[in-house]
Amino acid sequence: MFELQSLKEGTISILDVRTVTKKFGELTAVNRLSFKVDPGRIFGIAGPNGAGKSTLYNLISGLYTFNGSILFNDREIRGLPPHDIAKLGISRTFQIPQTFPSLTVEKSIGVGNYFGSRDGFEASYVDTVLYLVNLAEKRYHPAKQLNLLDKKMLMIGAALATKPSILMLDEPMAGSNAKEILLLMDLIQRINQEMGITIIIIEHFMKVLTELTQELLIIETGTKICCGDPVKVTADPRVIDCYLGDGHD
Ligand SMILES: Nc1ncnc2c1ncn2[C@@H]1O[C@H](COP(=O)(O)OP(=O)(O)O)[C@@H](O)[C@H]1O
Ligand SMILES: [Mg+2]
Repeated sequence: MFELQSLKEGTISILDVRTVTKKFGELTAVNRLSFKVDPGRIFGIAGPNGAGKSTLYNLISGLYTFNGSILFNDREIRGLPPHDIAKLGISRTFQIPQTFPSLTVEKSIGVGNYFGSRDGFEASYVDTVLYLVNLAEKRYHPAKQLNLLDKKMLMIGAALATKPSILMLDEPMAGSNAKEILLLMDLIQRINQEMGITIIIIEHFMKVLTELTQELLIIETGTKICCGDPVKVTADPRVIDCYLGDGHD
């Protein structure tokens, strides 16, 4: 029935999360969560600290077992190991920038391209990514010498090195000033528009979410509060109650 509906509308979701539940002992971190992401979108996820947002990324990337189902391009990915999920085309960044400290910027992106891309290593693609994330001039710098913004750029570059069709970003703006936020927003828009990559972004800044995303999912204690047009969602009293009233702006 669902399949028929999406065929009729001509859109099969690139990601279809169906009643996913993840428990850590007594704690239900993700609770019967369902949502769909259309291809080509910038899809936002927000919710208070501890809502289960990063856990959701860990489930989609294959790091933990869970109940329910996650379809990527109509194919079940539950149970696949992380490197297979990455090879299929799902890539992500982490809340705290993770880089290989002693590798140079160029090698950090090259390694991802070598091991993660279905097409194998392509020097020209590595170069494209280096310019996109504005690190071409620092290509021979060790990652550990980079400032926080450049480390974030490198982490996004390394995630792009695998040539993903979905890029999942986990609070990319955290710790950034207003100018850096604009740079990151511009980068995310270019990745989406110029490279045709579907973006899922977890973010706290509502202004970023309403300006950048086309659809916004709000979760609280692992449960979906609502999902839809970002401007409508952020005006929803349930959202203001659980999230905006929580001291965030
Ligand atoms: N590996 C884990 N083991 C046990 N509890 C975890 C683990 N990862 C996350 N949690 C718990 O799950 C809940 C959701 O965490 P998280 O997904 O990091 O939230 P968010 O990213 O929305 O802030 C929190 O209560 C957190 O303490
Ligand atoms: Mg988190």
